[in-house]
Amino acid sequence: MRKKIVAGNWKMNKTAEEAVALTSEVVNMIGDEVTGDVQVVLCVPSVYLTTLRQYLTGRVALGAQNCHEKASGAYTGEVSAPMLKSIGVQYVILGHSERRQYFNETNEQLAEKVNIALANNLTPIFCCGESLDLRQSGDFVGFVASQLTDSLFHLSPEEFGKIVIAYEPIWAIGTGLTASAAQAQEMHAALRQHIAAKYGPEVADNTTILYGGSANAQNAEELFACPDVDGGLIGGASLKSRDFTTVVKGVKN
Ligand code: PGA
Repeated sequence: MRKKIVAGNWKMNKTAEEAVALTSEVVNMIGDEVTGDVQVVLCVPSVYLTTLRQYLTGRVALGAQNCHEKASGAYTGEVSAPMLKSIGVQYVILGHSERRQYFNETNEQLAEKVNIALANNLTPIFCCGESLDLRQSGDFVGFVASQLTDSLFHLSPEEFGKIVIAYEPIWAIGTGLTASAAQAQEMHAALRQHIAAKYGPEVADNTTILYGGSANAQNAEELFACPDVDGGLIGGASLKSRDFTTVVKGVKN
């Protein structure tokens, strides 16, 4: 059985005080209200990782939002995978569409980031997804599949087995425009097939594929009910403890 995961992506939000308050609220609510088998991950701004780690439990793990592709060196302002590992971080988002768009991250560079994350025992949450133009042009499935091919398909089956995929249509991120459950299921099933063609059905069946893009307290349960949707990567709705907990409760085992 593949793992169900709900990860919050706080992006560049919250002061230190707000971050502590949100984390302790989330940890308490999840502890009190969530009975199912779901791994929760909080992907917080890197300056708060060390502090917030103290508030976390086994059910709520810590994630970063990015790492550099090199282990160390003269890269002012950057954070490396060994640094994240050294402070107990478990997950790292890689290739978020905002990083691809505003920081020009390429599939090739992301392949290197994936390698260094895995080498440091971090679980990559690898983001993929198409723009509105691509969706309207028709070959959006081929485009997203090629993001996986270019950044992940050099991995061995054992390595690939450690990857979490997050499908996030760019047109749905932060726009309030969610993919319908049918659109999410269509892409997730296609990606699972693409993975099966490369790594075989067993690896594909064990790969956790999250949906992201305006998933919220109202729509999460329906999205997560799709057979190939194994949880979510949640932006806006992860900034409020009640909304985020409701999203987590949308995962049914
Ligand atoms: P959103 O963001 O939930 O605010 O659309 C999702 C993401 O960018 O990971």
